[in-house]
Amino acid sequence: MAAPSDNGKVVILLGSPGVGKGTQGIRLGRELGWAHVSTGDLLRAALKAGTALGLEARRYMDAGELVPDDVIVDLVREHLAGMEQDRGVIFDGFPRTVPQAEALDDVLATVGRSVDRVALLEADDAVLVKRIAGRRSSPSGRVYNVYFDPPRRDGFCDDTGEPLIHRADDRPDTVRTRLAVYREATAPLIGFYGARGLLARVDGVGDIDQVQTELRGAVQG
Ligand code: AP5
Repeated sequence: MAAPSDNGKVVILLGSPGVGKGTQGIRLGRELGWAHVSTGDLLRAALKAGTALGLEARRYMDAGELVPDDVIVDLVREHLAGMEQDRGVIFDGFPRTVPQAEALDDVLATVGRSVDRVALLEADDAVLVKRIAGRRSSPSGRVYNVYFDPPRRDGFCDDTGEPLIHRADDRPDTVRTRLAVYREATAPLIGFYGARGLLARVDGVGDIDQVQTELRGAVQG
């Protein structure tokens, strides 16, 4: 792992469900010593802990719909407040709407920071659907794929030995909804950040190491 960078960059990973934001974000965070902040992971942790927020979020997540903006923005604001202010941050799955992007600008401005780069990971729907069907997640946060990135022992995490989980929102009908929601609510962020000169397109197809190399170039370029 690289020594933690103190340059405080703020990077957003944008892209469809299943494109590899979590896989790449965790690796990039480890490599650069930056924080990886996934709103999906924060919501799943809240759900597991049985908090009121987690229980409210569940009905949206299970249906493949977005959790309301105000809930998400409060969650992110609270999470950032507990972090070192000058550490690099990789946002994964946030922002997901234009109002969330505007709220992020406001939150960052209060600590004298702003978004430095937005990496758009891209892949066709057929690739996404196969990746999601094969995904298995560890309670530790590590993500595997039965087709492309299997654990050494079938069904169990290499790191912790815990049983792997098939996410409830990875059912085919829910995946169709998530892809449609991405196109409608999240894809407008491509224009939003493109107009600000912050967008870098990254080919999300190819093996995990290849994508990581291209992503690192986009983030550091
Ligand atoms: P979230 O958890 O963010 O899900 P998502 O955006 O739909 O993204 P995924 O986690 O499905 O995919 P990913 O891009 O991280 O891919 P991964 O790396 O796992 O959100 C879940 C729900 O929470 C939302 O539907 C919503 O309800 C709510 N939510 C979250 N954030 C919100 C927000 N900001 N606002 C409102 N609501 C919010 O990879 C997928 C699979 O492919 C894995 O098995 C992996 O091993 C494999 N893989 C990855 N890369 C490759 C590769 N290069 N080659 C082969 N296989 C690969």
